[in-house]
Amino acid sequence: MGLAFALPLAALLAFLCKVLYSSLSNRNGMRKNGCSAPPKLPQKDPVLGLDEFVKWARAMGDGSIIRMFRQRHEKLGKTFQGVMLGTNQIYTMDSKNIQTVLALDFDSYGLEPLRGGVGEYLVGKGIQTSDGPFHKYSRSLVRPTFARNNFANFASLQRHVDEFMGHIPRDSSTFDIQPLLQRLFLDEGTEFLFGESAKSLSPESPQEMNEFLNAHEYAMRGLSIRLQLGKTLQVLHQDKKWFECCRVIHRFLDRHVYRALELQEMRDKSVLLHEMARVTRDPLDLRNQIFHIFFDVKKNISTIVSNVFFNLSRHPKAWQKLRAEVLEIGDDELTVDVLKSKIYLRWVVNETFRIMPLAWATARLSLRDTLLPHGGGPKGTEPIFVPKGTRILVNWAALHMDRDYWGDDVEEWRPERWQDKKPTWEFLPFSGGPRICVAQQLALSQAYYVIVRLMREFKNIESRDSRPFDTTTRLGVSNKNGVKIVLTPA
Ligand SMILES: *[C@@H]1O[C@H](CO)[C@@H](O)[C@H](O)[C@H]1NC(C)=O
Ligand SMILES: *[C@@H]1O[C@H](CO)[C@@H](O)[C@H](O)[C@H]1NC(C)=O
Ligand SMILES: *[C@@H]1O[C@H](CO)[C@@H](O)[C@H](O)[C@H]1NC(C)=O
Repeated sequence: MGLAFALPLAALLAFLCKVLYSSLSNRNGMRKNGCSAPPKLPQKDPVLGLDEFVKWARAMGDGSIIRMFRQRHEKLGKTFQGVMLGTNQIYTMDSKNIQTVLALDFDSYGLEPLRGGVGEYLVGKGIQTSDGPFHKYSRSLVRPTFARNNFANFASLQRHVDEFMGHIPRDSSTFDIQPLLQRLFLDEGTEFLFGESAKSLSPESPQEMNEFLNAHEYAMRGLSIRLQLGKTLQVLHQDKKWFECCRVIHRFLDRHVYRALELQEMRDKSVLLHEMARVTRDPLDLRNQIFHIFFDVKKNISTIVSNVFFNLSRHPKAWQKLRAEVLEIGDDELTVDVLKSKIYLRWVVNETFRIMPLAWATARLSLRDTLLPHGGGPKGTEPIFVPKGTRILVNWAALHMDRDYWGDDVEEWRPERWQDKKPTWEFLPFSGGPRICVAQQLALSQAYYVIVRLMREFKNIESRDSRPFDTTTRLGVSNKNGVKIVLTPA
């Protein structure tokens, strides 16, 4: 028997032994802890789970992944298991299980084994890819800025909103508010992060910034390919243009990093990078860390605001009710406290987050053998055993559509439902536990601010697109067709 034949055979045998061993020891762990197994996802390839990988990739590509998982949960229950690329997976939309993974049993789960080292050339090490002490340290770089009392950066936002208003047609012509909002929050976000705005709403947007943004767009696509391939297989992604784009990004970031380091006492308190430079003076660390924050800033707030306008334009009564509330403010200055006191505004935003959370899911890997409280047994009420190395998919989008909590009209956008809802772990638009989004308050306040500014100036809204919401998960969960509306000046 030739070597060419013996080697793969040996590898196959070793793999089968491993599967057998882990299945035996898992059964042991299960029995010892009084657990039952959750339902199994029917799979053609239950050993390697190649079919699941293909389905997943396809559903990510055409934006149907949220729907696919909701249908699976409807059929199989709130928690079920499957296999993808040889890794056991547990999929859950059970709020108690989610609380356990994200908070109660936080130390048993990690992100780093899933994301760490992937695309490291581009992203380095930072808040989005690390666990443990480094994750804590990364949060400590940004937390002081976000934790400042009522920090919302309205002074800067106001300037950008003024400019944004100039782009809205006042002659009843149809326009798409989604890309305009993206530009607004890109300008605001870049100014907040780097101290220099992308100025995408104005004619003189700086050349270097444009190069950076284009490179970023391209690099992120490559990064998501690498994430799917994983740490070992990512070498298969050898795209020369991707490396070039990474270098463009690094040059841009480095310029801002060195500036922040040189400024010393001249630093601007409203610029995040300058604040971070007070804590660390390591240029590479600063570059990585600010880049990790930039991931989020680019998509989040604009997506939620355009999703709000998507449904306000389809629910005239909600628009009227919200506008009445907004006009109560009169000419008072828009402060965080004033905005937060507007209850219908908060319902509208919460309801939109419920139906279209910015991130539909997150994954963790179990770092040791542990338990989840629900999912086993015929009714899914018994605990389940989670062996070390299991990937858990926490599905926020499905959680927010749980009929047991929200009632039978979950599909409907109905802000009034918030009248008697005070969810805790049933509603997680910003995740929860030690990894809860640090920018939550900033994001909410800025969203409220922009909605109120628009509603002050326009008395009516009409949708000019009868198609339903067509989900894409690329830039947050947003609409493929944009948000085409007409606004009538007050
Ligand atoms: C909106 O959701 C948050 C949870 O993120 C909750 O604390 C808050 O009470 C909700 N707001 C209203 C007005 O119901
Ligand atoms: C808008 O409302 C419809 C129906 O009420 C819902 O299907 C859709 O997902 C909602 N979209 C957003 C962005 O809230
Ligand atoms: C953006 O949304 C995701 C998902 O909710 C969250 O993890 C992230 O921290 C958010 N970032 C910002 C800046 O709002």
